[in-house]
Amino acid sequence: MPAQTQDHWTSAKYQSAASFVPKLTTTVLSYLDIQPTDRILDIGCGDGQLTSQIAQATPQGQVLGLDASHSFITTANQNNSSTNCSYHLQDCTVLSASSDAVGEGSWDKVFSNAALHWILRPSATRENVFHEIHRALKPGGSFVFEMGGKGNVAEIQAAFTAALVHAGLSIQEAREACPWFFPSVDWMRETLEGVGFEVVKCESEYRPTKLNPEREDGSGGIEGWLRLMGARFLEAVDEGKKEGGLKEVGDVLESVITREEDGSRWIGYVRLRAVARKK
Ligand code: BEZ
Repeated sequence: MPAQTQDHWTSAKYQSAASFVPKLTTTVLSYLDIQPTDRILDIGCGDGQLTSQIAQATPQGQVLGLDASHSFITTANQNNSSTNCSYHLQDCTVLSASSDAVGEGSWDKVFSNAALHWILRPSATRENVFHEIHRALKPGGSFVFEMGGKGNVAEIQAAFTAALVHAGLSIQEAREACPWFFPSVDWMRETLEGVGFEVVKCESEYRPTKLNPEREDGSGGIEGWLRLMGARFLEAVDEGKKEGGLKEVGDVLESVITREEDGSRWIGYVRLRAVARKK
């Protein structure tokens, strides 16, 4: 998960807002092609649900999950660790392959699911993240990931940007408040090649996804999603305008995301997946 000034994450909130994320992983896991002795580094591991599943498939290997959220790492250590699966608190925007936790040239695979769009948001540290991942891999090792691609949750990004302008920010400030980076396939391919990877696969898929049911405490449905995933947008707004801004976003999205046949709510996820090999 992302490096953030404030830690908005808890495993419980994530479960209510987006429990589907670690479940919709069949394709990227098939690309990871886990072998029983693989040493795998998981970048942005969240609460470790998926990391521990990966560790079970590599019983003679080792898996290390990194995440910037103290809350997530605490939950991961409590609920999802094992003899071959551990976690380390790490802001991956400043990842270093030469740190004690990571280690240069020591991983068969580097994996990431639904985290790089947060980690790659600051443009100043973007290139370094790719370089350090490349350095962390053994020669011939693979970087396998899935993240939001160009156009991901575009309806939500547009609604938040407009709401921030209505709350008094300039359009530039509103754009800068966006906590996500959703690159195109072409951008990703060029960037991976630029740091020395051979790109085996790089693809994008439009995957509309049904939201979790609403809950009385506001933690599920579109409200729960916006409150948790959009927390950084709202940080840019004066305290007294946050709830109004959130209501505006929800109202704008209402007819866009609701299906007529059954009232279910869907958001327009676009997945960017890649497999890149260190030569
Ligand atoms: C995603 O997985 O695509 C995503 C998750 C949270 C916010 C934005 C995008």
